[in-house]
Amino acid sequence: MKIACLPGDGIGAEVTAAALDVLSVLVPELDIEEHLFGGEAILARGTPLPDDTLAACLDADAVLLGAVGLPQFDAADVRPEQGLIGLRKALDVYANLRPARQNTIDLIVVRELVGGLYYGPKGTRDDGTVFDTLEYHPHQVERIARRAFALARTRRGLVTSVDKANVLETSRMWRRVVNEVAADYADVELEHILVDTAAMQLVTAPEQFDVILTENTFGDILSDEAGAVTGGLGLAASASLGDDGPGIFEPVHGSAPDIAGRGIANPAAMLRSAALMLEHGLGLPAEAKRLSAAVDTAIALAPTPDLGGNATTRDVVAAVLAGLRR
Ligand code: NAD
Ligand code: IPM
Ligand code: MN
Repeated sequence: MKIACLPGDGIGAEVTAAALDVLSVLVPELDIEEHLFGGEAILARGTPLPDDTLAACLDADAVLLGAVGLPQFDAADVRPEQGLIGLRKALDVYANLRPARQNTIDLIVVRELVGGLYYGPKGTRDDGTVFDTLEYHPHQVERIARRAFALARTRRGLVTSVDKANVLETSRMWRRVVNEVAADYADVELEHILVDTAAMQLVTAPEQFDVILTENTFGDILSDEAGAVTGGLGLAASASLGDDGPGIFEPVHGSAPDIAGRGIANPAAMLRSAALMLEHGLGLPAEAKRLSAAVDTAIALAPTPDLGGNATTRDVVAAVLAGLRR
């Protein structure tokens, strides 16, 4: 089983190193190769997604990704984030699953990942107006909706579709298509809510949610929020899946320039993403369960500063490895 590993920038590289240490013990037979990506790739090769990195991802069984983003490129024409957006499109990983679980909260954001504002026509008009365009084809909505309903069947059976149908044409089409798909999943309950209300309820009553189905930009924002109400970004993992071909497994968080280089990044989000890779990308559910359980124990024993403790990234790795040995 071949893994293309893209450590990326800032704490992306730090938490990826932690994941590789754990994976080498848990599943030693994995063939893992590292490749340049993001800001590091711009510095070395002038582009965030070099051709050989993309080829290695297309040829792999799964892509394990840290995070990209370096402050020095925030206003540049060529930015690390463009590499990530290009890679998602190239692999057509349209279904971004972002679970958030803590105490009585157990929800998963199903975010459409290769459409919407991120990918529509953008540019600057002669008069100086700058534009990004929000476009969706019904087919893009249908396939992500099917994912959400199928997933809900394996959970509590509730899909909450989030849109802005009181304002946006794309949202009204989204709602119509989701209703059509729902007819094939009569055993699943469907509700629609507007995104502003959804953002509020995620804070005030997050227990009510099971599967949150939404478009790309809303999903980006709501998944950070879901992470925040379930222990923070240091814990929030994600899996980006297509219909076939390799998935991308990466934390929800970014490169965290404010703590990069200090050895204190919480590797739990990355380790949980690695567990999602074992489960969804490699068909190793037993190993995935062992890893998740070891991570849960480790962060209780060795909490990093984001969790109110003073453990380092390495301390968490040591605690996870100790848990795996038990
Ligand atoms: P961020 O997620 O990097 O950080 C937000 C806050 O959460 C920071 O205070 C950070 O210290 C904290 N944090 C995040 N992950 C943590 C962890 N594992 N352990 C402890 N604390 C953690 O978001 P940002 O600061 O808005 O963005 C920084 C850069 O990352 C930007 O360039 C952005 O584009 C990029 N980014 C990349 C990805 C990705 O590659 N998937 C995701 C989000 C942001
Ligand atoms: C995420 C990130 C990315 C996104 C950025 C870095 C392009 O915020 O994975 O949530 O917006 O999808
Ligand atoms: Mn995000």
